[in-house]
Amino acid sequence: MLKIRDLNVHYGGIHALKGINLSVPEGRIVTLIGANGAGKSTTLRTVCGLVKPSNGEISFCGESLVGQKTTAIIKKGITMVPEGRRVFPDLTVHENLVLGAYARHDHKAIEEDMERVNTLFPRLKERRDQLAGTLSGGEQQMLAVGRALMSRPRLLMMDEPSLGLAPVLVQDIFNIIHRINNEGMTILLIEQNAKAALELADYGYVLETGCVALSGTGQELLADDRVRKVYLGES
Ligand SMILES: Nc1ncnc2c1ncn2[C@@H]1O[C@H](COP(=O)(O)OP(=O)(O)O)[C@@H](O)[C@H]1O
Ligand SMILES: [Mg+2]
Repeated sequence: MLKIRDLNVHYGGIHALKGINLSVPEGRIVTLIGANGAGKSTTLRTVCGLVKPSNGEISFCGESLVGQKTTAIIKKGITMVPEGRRVFPDLTVHENLVLGAYARHDHKAIEEDMERVNTLFPRLKERRDQLAGTLSGGEQQMLAVGRALMSRPRLLMMDEPSLGLAPVLVQDIFNIIHRINNEGMTILLIEQNAKAALELADYGYVLETGCVALSGTGQELLADDRVRKVYLGES
C-alpha cells in the first residue's frame, strides 16, 4: 500500500535520511524503531508532504506522493497522529473529534465513526463536553488517536503514541492499536517502546542514523541479538 524507495532527506547540511526503503502492505502493522534522532519522525513527515525529500520515491496505492501537498495526501487517505498528542485544548472532546472529520461530507458514515470511536474509547464518551486541555495525558493521546480515526484513513501513521504515558496506559494504547488493526486498518507505528511494538507488529524496521540497519518480522527482530542488546536492553 505504501512504498518508500531510496528516500533521502536533508535539513540544510544534515543528511537525515540516507536512502531508506520500506513497505507497508495493506492490512498490516509495520513498526519503525530506533534511537532518538534516527530519522523516524522525518520519515512520517516526508510521507505526509511536510518535508521535501532530496530524492527518492514514495508511492501510496501505486500513486506517487512526492511533490504533492499535505492536504492532497490527507485526501488520499493518509492520516498521522503526530508526536506529543496535539489536540485543540480549548475545544471539547466532541469538537476535537468532529474536526477530525472536517474534510468529509458523508454525514451518515461520520456518525457511524463517532459511535465507533466512542465504543473504542469509553473514557472519551464520558468526557464528551470536557475541554481537551483539561484531560490527562493518556486521555489526550486517546483523543488524538480518536480524532485521526474520524478522518477514516486508509493508512494511519502514529508517532510515538505511548511516549510519556504510565505503563497501564501504554498497554491500553497498544490494545487499541491491535483492535483498530483487527478491524482492517493499515498502520505504520513509530515507537521507542521497541518490545511492545515488535510484539504487536507484523514487520519492523530498525533505523540507525538515517539508514535501515535491520528489518524483519516482529518475531525475527525480537530474536535478533543486536536488537535485544541495543533496543531491548538485554545483556
Ligand atoms: N526541522 C529540522 N531541522 C533540522 N534538523 C532536523 C529537523 N528535524 C529533525 N532534524 C534532524 O534530523 C535527524 C532525524 O530527526 P527525527 O526524524 O526527528 O528523528 P527521530 O524521530 O528518530 O527521533 C536528527 O539529527 C534531527 O536533529
Ligand atoms: Mg521522533
